[in-house]
Amino acid sequence: MRILITGGTGFLGHHIAERLLEDGHTLTLLGRTASSNTPQRGLFSLRCDLRHRAAVIAACRGQDAVIHAGALSAPWGRWEDFYAINVRGTAAILEGCERFGVTRLIQISSPAVVFTGGDHQQTTEDAPYPRRFSSAYAQSKALAEQLVRNETRVASVILRPKAIFGPGDRALLPRLVAAARAGRLPQVGTGQNLVDLTYVRNVADAVALALHRSAALGRTYHITNNEHVPLWPLIRRVLRELGLNDRLRAVPLPLMLAVAASMELRAKLTGCEPLLTRYSVAILGRTQTYDISAAQRDLGYQPRVTIADGVAHTLGYLRQEVR
Ligand SMILES: NC(=O)c1ccc[n+]([C@@H]2O[C@H](COP(=O)([O-])OP(=O)(O)OC[C@H]3O[C@@H](n4cnc5c(N)ncnc54)[C@H](OP(=O)(O)O)[C@@H]3O)[C@@H](O)[C@H]2O)c1
Repeated sequence: MRILITGGTGFLGHHIAERLLEDGHTLTLLGRTASSNTPQRGLFSLRCDLRHRAAVIAACRGQDAVIHAGALSAPWGRWEDFYAINVRGTAAILEGCERFGVTRLIQISSPAVVFTGGDHQQTTEDAPYPRRFSSAYAQSKALAEQLVRNETRVASVILRPKAIFGPGDRALLPRLVAAARAGRLPQVGTGQNLVDLTYVRNVADAVALALHRSAALGRTYHITNNEHVPLWPLIRRVLRELGLNDRLRAVPLPLMLAVAASMELRAKLTGCEPLLTRYSVAILGRTQTYDISAAQRDLGYQPRVTIADGVAHTLGYLRQEVR
């Protein structure tokens, strides 16, 4: 297949590309930083901003499938930017798919769209969107999902991978490690919360499956490693392996949320990004597990790389980053 991967210059997009090249597909990687130098066979680059509607529509010409992983993915930012990139960018992709007869769209979304800020246990895909979204990012991803679901002329599958980690990640573990190195990482809450994480290669496998399974069309799937991991013991282990101090001071969750709320207020007044947001605090302090039985049933998805192996692969990368 000829496949356009938006976000092909990013962490997940890179791993999806690696996986789909193995299947012999011809890929075009779209991003603002796409390089013109892609010497590998079957690989093309397209420098394009998702805010440029006409260019995004044109990028869909001649493609059999589009994997839409490009997004502004951040805990903080201006709503106008989230809307322009994540919502209007998705609208342009849908328009391109419809105009040029693209036979399948895989929309990369996130379980953040149903995150209420409280604990989640084995949340299924039919959980409603919350009355108040936990972040502008979550709200924009939910609006994008709704656009995809409502566009019945484009055959689509929505995947919601939870907390992706692996080599090349710049967000999840690297940010925690950087905070710990600076002596600014407290344990949020009791340290007993369980989370679902997803090794990046498993997400790429889910994408490869979603390209071909007709039972998945028009549906939404949670994707995780299906291992409910105690988050703080894992973070401590990673810090120890990197030779960093793993003795973290525990701060009660309500106190951390109050501190984050005041930081957000100050950030709104000053325009500077806050160190903490209530969203990022809740993500670190709450239990969040998601049911993946629908993906197992319809996609035949099974996480092939375990958390233990995924962490081992990631540690090599993190060691280089720390150096
Ligand atoms: N990481 C996670 O834990 C996680 C969890 C759930 C869902 N997701 C979703 O997975 C997808 C990939 O995220 P990631 O973790 O790989 O993040 P990332 O490394 O930050 O990648 C984001 C990608 O989006 C592209 N992008 C951002 N703004 C753009 C714009 N204006 N125009 C064109 N391209 C733009 C970036 O390319 P350029 O910078 O080259 O423009 C980059 O390729 C996103 O849809 C995210 O919402 C991630």
